Amino acid sequence: MKKITTHIDYELFDSIDELNGSDRELLLRAIEATNSAYAPYSDFHVGAAVILENGEVVTGSNQENAAYPSGLCAERVAVFSAAAHYPDVKIKSIAITARFNDDKKLLSVSPCGDCRQVMAEYEHRFHSSIRMIMTGENGKVVVIPNVKTLLPLMFNSDSLKKG
Ligand code: THU
Repeated sequence: MKKITTHIDYELFDSIDELNGSDRELLLRAIEATNSAYAPYSDFHVGAAVILENGEVVTGSNQENAAYPSGLCAERVAVFSAAAHYPDVKIKSIAITARFNDDKKLLSVSPCGDCRQVMAEYEHRFHSSIRMIMTGENGKVVVIPNVKTLLPLMFNSDSLKKG
């Protein structure tokens, strides 16, 4: 038996203003996207913005449903929309943020397990890291270099190969 430890590397910025230009722009697009959230049940308005290798930005927001599990998170709305519109273009980065309705203060948010799995699929498919920029506690911003960092021992298409 061997004991194996895994660790995650990420960057923590004190505020949005500390980010480099392209990360800041993308996070601003995610903030804007919170305005299109449909979240009457949780009141938690999430915005996501994806930038592709061709420079296109695609945004998404959470879309809830009276049948709760039928709703979808902002990240998956953005990623699926990007993949549907630009099927063969790599995703470079995703920015994610959240706020309560009628409140401007940004909240700490980290993608749920389903969204991690979905983003990891595109990372694996294109053999290319997806940088994640997320708002954290007290106005801080967390930057994680790739999705697989958040999914140690992940399941992907390699497991489905025969022999
Ligand atoms: N949600 C997201 O859109 N993204 C996340 O990263 C966390 C959760 C949504 C799902 C649901 O509409 C609401 O936030 C509360 O869970």
